[in-house]
Amino acid sequence: MKADLVILANRLPVDRVRDAAGSPTGWRASPGGLVSALEPVLRAKNGIWLGWPGGTEQQLKPFEIDGLRLVPLSMDDIEIERHYEGFSNGTLWPLYHDVVAKPAFHREWWETYEKVNRRFAEAAAKAANKGGTVWVHDYQLQLVPSFLRKLRPDLKIGFFLHIPFPPTELFMQLPWRRQIVEGLLGADLIGFQVPGAANNFTRLVRQLAGLGSGRQNVVDLPDGRRVKIAAYPISIDFSGFAELAETESVNARAAQIRSQLGNPRTVFLGCDRLDYTKGIYARLRAFGELIEEGKVSVNDAVFVQVAVPSREQVEEYQRLRDEIDRLVGRLNGDLGGIGKPAILYLHTSFPREEMAALYRAADVMVVTPYRDGMNLVAKEYVACRSENDGALVLSEFAGAARELKQAWLVNPYDINGMKAAFLDAYNADPKERSRRMRAMRRTVSTNDVVMWADHFMADLDHTGR
Ligand code: G6P
Repeated sequence: MKADLVILANRLPVDRVRDAAGSPTGWRASPGGLVSALEPVLRAKNGIWLGWPGGTEQQLKPFEIDGLRLVPLSMDDIEIERHYEGFSNGTLWPLYHDVVAKPAFHREWWETYEKVNRRFAEAAAKAANKGGTVWVHDYQLQLVPSFLRKLRPDLKIGFFLHIPFPPTELFMQLPWRRQIVEGLLGADLIGFQVPGAANNFTRLVRQLAGLGSGRQNVVDLPDGRRVKIAAYPISIDFSGFAELAETESVNARAAQIRSQLGNPRTVFLGCDRLDYTKGIYARLRAFGELIEEGKVSVNDAVFVQVAVPSREQVEEYQRLRDEIDRLVGRLNGDLGGIGKPAILYLHTSFPREEMAALYRAADVMVVTPYRDGMNLVAKEYVACRSENDGALVLSEFAGAARELKQAWLVNPYDINGMKAAFLDAYNADPKERSRRMRAMRRTVSTNDVVMWADHFMADLDHTGR
């Protein structure tokens, strides 16, 4: 399978379908944010998507799903352990999220990360037509641009980092910092979520390699190539969510959810992958204290926390799960009543329709990560509030805070500050909520995910000219 446009990401946007005996029978599309962004450009250019489909099956054949051409790239047990769980999620993930957890540095993880990046680059090199474009995604594949450049100097190579890029002071801890920077500089265009991340990277390149140019966000390399560095804040399928949220079935389900919750005056909602960067523990503690202090009552409020299982083999995630389990148990045991839990905790993932119903049912959406590249849940909530009601409490440290300025912005490390914001949002006058929501809806609707992809692709097309 060959194409003019190749998307390379750690994951393919699919899940395995299995029969009752557990044998694989086919694939099911997993409709994430990235696929809705890339679908239109993939279709327009008849492009292909390369990535790991999850699991350890080897030598899988390319296949099509809903007209999208997908090429599975395998990983074996050791590679999953060292490249995916290890270097990607035990080293880079915490390092890039302000060292919220301690990154582990293991030489064998690094070696495997390099090996997998090389293999993925070779696959992309084979898949791209002469003069074609390869768009590489995220922190799991930062060495691909330079490997690919060596194999195929004729290609346009774009790279987008979906997660934060840390300040130089933190990045410098990485024993392989030079290799990562050189890996990324193989691209023609390197995109980040926010200008601060792009600046962190340019500053790092100046400091580490003494490279740069008079112009901000441009790096001139000794071989004569020029690399452009810029911010492209990712977004969501705004109209898709807005339309879904207005369907009868979603509204009926939202009403049913509220009634199953006992029709409280206020439903607070949190929805995150169960990840230590998301600030779930501190947020639930803050809510618990408000109940303890009598400022909020379980008779008229409930906090629904959806925690999507994630990276369950990684130790830090197992520890977090235990901590949250204990906290929820304690809060409900101490503060709840019969049929009146303080926290309704759901450790599961839901399809888009159910999420839209939860967003419709929630009066106060609470998104309080310690650090987040963007956070699409915040944008999805806004898209689903077509009546301009509902309040968003949002961490200053989420990329989305740069755009969603009318949210109740909080510092997630400041428990009292969060409590005050919860109360403000809880008691806010409907007019105030509506003024804020209207402004945020305007912002998200004018930068949706298709515009994001178009903008990146257009800039990539123009590099080197
Ligand atoms: C973040 C990353 C993605 C990743 C996703 C889910 O959004 O930026 O690259 O795919 O989390 O994590 P997982 O480890 O399950 O792929």
